[in-house]
Amino acid sequence: MEETTFIMIKPDGVQRRLVAPIIARFENRGLTLVAIKMVNTSEALIDQHYAELVNKPFYPGLKQYMLSGPVIAMVWKGKAAAALGRAIVGATNPKESAPGTIRGDFCNDVGRNVIHASDSVESAKREIALWFKPEELVHYVPCDLGWVY
Ligand code: PPS
Repeated sequence: MEETTFIMIKPDGVQRRLVAPIIARFENRGLTLVAIKMVNTSEALIDQHYAELVNKPFYPGLKQYMLSGPVIAMVWKGKAAAALGRAIVGATNPKESAPGTIRGDFCNDVGRNVIHASDSVESAKREIALWFKPEELVHYVPCDLGWVY
């Protein structure tokens, strides 16, 4: 089933010039880019995005990290996009993320883990609505879909 998911390249991914290689991994897997923008985040936006985590002991560090530079917010569409996005990104803690995943190839610290991916279809809906206006989503039918599916 066609789904959409929210993917965000975190400040370290932007500063380390990993934007193009990261985007290539989603395109190579057959997902379709529906929306993309660079964002200077705010405390309010990060608090909303991570609303379930604000009382965790690591939250102040996570927030400081997320406010340390611009991020790339994206929406990707495709078959099982939420689950596929998580698989492409890899396990949250780089100690557990497999080689071949973005975190398994590019990072070594849970506090600098380069990228965020929605953990479910429901989370994706909430996060997309938080980061994007409906008119910023550009849905189209890619001409290569017959080859991907
Ligand atoms: S938890 O405690 O199980 O709810 O957390 P988890 O699902 O593993 O991770 C949720 C997000 O918090 C980030 N995280 C951290 N950031 C900084 N420092 C530490 N120690 C830390 N632990 C977890 C983690 O990367 C998840 O963020 P996203 O953006 O969803 O990857």
